[in-house]
Formats: sequence, structure tokens, C-alpha cells
Amino acid sequence: MSEAGDALRNHLRARQEMGDPELFLAAGGRRGFLDLARESSRGPAEVEDSGVEARLSREGTTEEILALPVMDAVRRVAQACTRCGLHATRNSVVFADGSADARVLCVGEAPGANEDATGLPFVGRAGKLMDRLLLSVGFPRSEVFICNVLKCRPPGNRNPLPEEIESCSPFMLRQVELVCPEVIVAFGTFAAQTLLGTRESLRRLRGRTHLYRGFPLIVTYHPAALLRNPGWTRPTWKDLQRARAIVDGDLDDTPESRGAADTTAASTDAGDAGPPSDQLTLGGHDG
Ligand code: URA
Repeated sequence: MSEAGDALRNHLRARQEMGDPELFLAAGGRRGFLDLARESSRGPAEVEDSGVEARLSREGTTEEILALPVMDAVRRVAQACTRCGLHATRNSVVFADGSADARVLCVGEAPGANEDATGLPFVGRAGKLMDRLLLSVGFPRSEVFICNVLKCRPPGNRNPLPEEIESCSPFMLRQVELVCPEVIVAFGTFAAQTLLGTRESLRRLRGRTHLYRGFPLIVTYHPAALLRNPGWTRPTWKDLQRARAIVDGDLDDTPESRGAADTTAASTDAGDAGPPSDQLTLGGHDG
């Protein structure tokens, strides 16, 4: 069964165990299901959050992180994390920016110097460009959830190590589960390849909708790459229009709807006018 199928089965079982044997999935298809899943993954408002850390083993195992009931608990556990060596050199744990109610979840690679200093993701020049790109398709930063694969800065911005990715991934996975987004946007090769567990190039991964744990995921250029290659702005904008169309319910070309065997790039009728240039004036090199 697909990951979305697994999620649906688990959800229905949970509802049944809660004494709700007669569950009707309202017409609404994937969106209706996602709304139900959002409700159930967050649990009741009065969910017991206090004392969560006291019940964890010293570093928090993967299973314990994945069982954390609310985003605040995940944040607190991440803030104290020593699961990999990056804790020794970080100034801040860069957990995320945005609300757990967001419909769009954006994932980058790892914090840089600005993020390490402020504790917030994507706050440098690349982040400002990302904000403008998202806004150009109707996603103000205040309405999206932004995080990175790694929550701590690799010294000197070196590439993340496999063991760092493995240690940190449960936090991102739990973030995704708790936000339950309608679409995930992976910015850059690293985020895309890590989330999708592939070595395929960005070029091949763009232009179609993937699934991450049952959630639609689209891949686009990293905004820092756009600062170096402004010619990639328009393709990025088109990728983000795909995300917009998924949220608007105008596009369902997930692997499920295409059929499991179909891995070809699906075309999108995203329009050809190009991004509004006043919103996307580019600066120079990222540094
Ligand atoms: N690049 C990233 O991938 N993430 C950030 O938070 C900042 C720059």
C-alpha cells in the first residue's frame, strides 16, 4: 500500500478505536482526507504536553521524538538536542518559523550564519528572496511553515554529513506530521534528495509532484542559487505556481493519481506570463 494509503488506514483505525465505527469520508477526496488527518494528527486541544521532556531518555530516541504530541514539545526537545556533533558549535537551534496550522511547508538545507545568529530559518538575502517568491504566488511568509533538514549550522556552511542528517531527520518528520501540510516545497537539491531518498538531479525532480510520507511535494531551486543565477527565477516561480495549484485543488498529479508506474514529468498549465518583476527584483551574489 502507498504511504498515503497507510496514513488513511491508520487514521481510520484510530477513529474506530475512538468509538467512531461509522466514518464517512465526505466527498472532498484528498483534500477532505487531509483535513481529517490534520485534525486527528494534532489531537485534542487539551492534549497533555507538560512534563514531556521528563519522560524522554537523555538524548531523545527517534521513536520518542516521533511520538511528541505537539509542536512546542518538538521545539523544546530540539532546543536541547545533542544527538550529533553540531550541538558543540551552534549558537542557536534553528527549529522553524511559522505556524503549525500552515497549509504550506517549506524545507531548506541547513542554517547559515544569519540563521545561527538569530535562531530563525531563511533570514539572510536568500531568505528575503524566498519570501518574495512565495508572496508572488499568494503565500505570505506569515502563512507558511519554514524549516530546514538540519536544525544546526554546519561549521563554515560545509555540506551536512550523513550521520547529521540521520540524527536530525526525526525532527523534520515530526514537524511535517504535525503541520500536515497540503503541499511541501523542497528548496534545492539537498532538501529534495534527502526528503525523497534519491540521488536524482534537481533538473529531473522538478516539474512533477512527488509524495513525502503521503504529502504532495514539489521541488524547486534554492533561493541562494537564484541569487547567483537570476535566470532560474522564472522556472522557480512556475514551480511555486504548481504548489499554489495543489493548495487550490486545481492540480492533483501525485504519483497516486498518475498511477504508481508512471514516473514521468507531468506538465502543468501554470501560465506563461512570468513572475511579477516588481516583487522579484534580484540582488547580487549571496556571499
Ligand atoms: N539556506 C538554507 O537552506 N536554510 C536557511 O535557513 C538559510 C539558508
